[in-house]
Amino acid sequence: MLVKMKEILDRACKENYAVAAANVYTELNARAFVEAAEELNAPLILNYKVGCHPDTDDIIKICLDLAKKSKVPIAVNLDHGDSKEMVLSGIRAGVTGVMIDKSSKPFEENVKETKKVVEIAHTVGVSVEAELGHVGVADNYVVDGKSALTKVEDAVRFVELTDVDCLAVAIGTAHGAYPKGMKPEIDFERLASLRKALPELPLVLHGSSGTDIEDIRKVCSMGI
Ligand code: CO
Repeated sequence: MLVKMKEILDRACKENYAVAAANVYTELNARAFVEAAEELNAPLILNYKVGCHPDTDDIIKICLDLAKKSKVPIAVNLDHGDSKEMVLSGIRAGVTGVMIDKSSKPFEENVKETKKVVEIAHTVGVSVEAELGHVGVADNYVVDGKSALTKVEDAVRFVELTDVDCLAVAIGTAHGAYPKGMKPEIDFERLASLRKALPELPLVLHGSSGTDIEDIRKVCSMGI
């Protein structure tokens, strides 16, 4: 069934488990994710980033249809929206969650842009994810790895000011494939502090692909 992203994440947060957000590129990989979620009887987020398919509306429609027909709860999320316009195009296409990513901007600007999206999205019942600190790219891990980790006091202020439904945090992972022989170093202490400061807010981990399965398990038990 198609559900709001908040519905899936609030329950996961309360019961302390994580939900996979799988990156959709084609109808076939979307179908495979849904089949796997059904096999495991697990909720799922179908994550779509503009540009990963030639036609955003078409691929979102496929995701929505698959979600509606599924027996497990599925949210369709617009990943890494870089502007209010992009987020709106996703909302118009029918997604049940959006990410507004202004994490590379200064704090105040991130707050301002996120707030605008929250106001619009919440009016039409769509959940919002934002990012604070910045999750960089694994290819550039030496520089990106620890340069913009999420500060706990900033996260608390950000959530108060924006009313986001979930927050992507930078705790040492990065997007994509890490250089050969390199592994991400996760700041578990920071994650524990974030969880303590924001006990009811679902926290989101980006850049999980190249991370050890044991580390993934651990962060999933700590609020991700
Ligand atoms: Co990401």
